[in-house]
Amino acid sequence: MDLGIRGRSAIVTGGSSGIGRETARQFLEEGVRVTISGRNAETLERTRMELAKATSADIHAVVGDMMKEEDIVRLVESAKQRFGGVDILVNNAGQMYSGRFAVMTDAGLKEQLETKLFGFLRAIRLVYPGMKAQRWGRIVNMIGGAGKEPDPYMFGSGITNSGLLNLTKSLSAEFGEDNVLVNAVCPGWVDTNLWRRNAQGLAAELGAQSEEEARRRAARKNSLNRFGRPEELAYAIVFLCSERASYITGVSLNLDGGRLKSLW
Ligand SMILES: NC(=O)c1ccc[n+]([C@@H]2O[C@H](COP(=O)([O-])OP(=O)(O)OC[C@H]3O[C@@H](n4cnc5c(N)ncnc54)[C@H](OP(=O)(O)O)[C@@H]3O)[C@@H](O)[C@H]2O)c1
Repeated sequence: MDLGIRGRSAIVTGGSSGIGRETARQFLEEGVRVTISGRNAETLERTRMELAKATSADIHAVVGDMMKEEDIVRLVESAKQRFGGVDILVNNAGQMYSGRFAVMTDAGLKEQLETKLFGFLRAIRLVYPGMKAQRWGRIVNMIGGAGKEPDPYMFGSGITNSGLLNLTKSLSAEFGEDNVLVNAVCPGWVDTNLWRRNAQGLAAELGAQSEEEARRRAARKNSLNRFGRPEELAYAIVFLCSERASYITGVSLNLDGGRLKSLW
């Protein structure tokens, strides 16, 4: 299937690793010109070089922290300068803020909100005028299942994610008349560095003796009984950003192997 986005310009925040990296790779294979970002300059440059080599496509990289408004401005300006505009924004950069109420701190929650809620919102604010003017745009927000089904261990992520679901739905209604589509993806556990960084904490939460046991127990909560692979997420993200998804907006797609059991 031709996705109809050849020549478009996309920003994938957090494109240096995991789901963002796979999303960038698939965009490049579709002929999309891609700007990736991340805080670690070395990792970002390594990814840029590897993806350029693997796809022979046009990829740009900008070091930046989504907690800093000036970095987001620099990222968007740099992408516009390099590719003449931004047609697609994948708001992906972020962390998980895990832990129960007893260990949550205001500082930790503020950091999560700053990165994902304000980081996503600020990036949207900067790309939307160009999308509106050309009457074509795609925005996908990477959220997470705890925004829909509260989990005590995911308290901080859950609060942030619920706000992001509201943001996604609200903006999809507001931007609809401009043909700017706003959707969300809610991953369950995906096999990335994020999981590896949280494996010990999850093992303690689940009473597991090892990280491998924690993985097995966590995976058992979804119908497919396994973690997702980054590319499985990326296929859906790229589709939502494509011409073929032209009648889909305001959706939050669960990409969790059947983890959430509610009807909608
Ligand atoms: N993996 C899962 O199980 C899972 C589940 C639910 C939701 N998610 C969401 O999916 C998204 C991608 O996560 P992933 O699993 O692919 O994790 P990952 O492999 O750790 O990748 C995260 C990416 O975001 C970047 N990043 C993190 N904080 C940033 C910041 N403040 N500013 C700029 N870049 C930042 C990282 O680069 P630097 O570290 O160099 O900045 C990296 O490129 C995240 O928003 C995460 O919350 C993941």
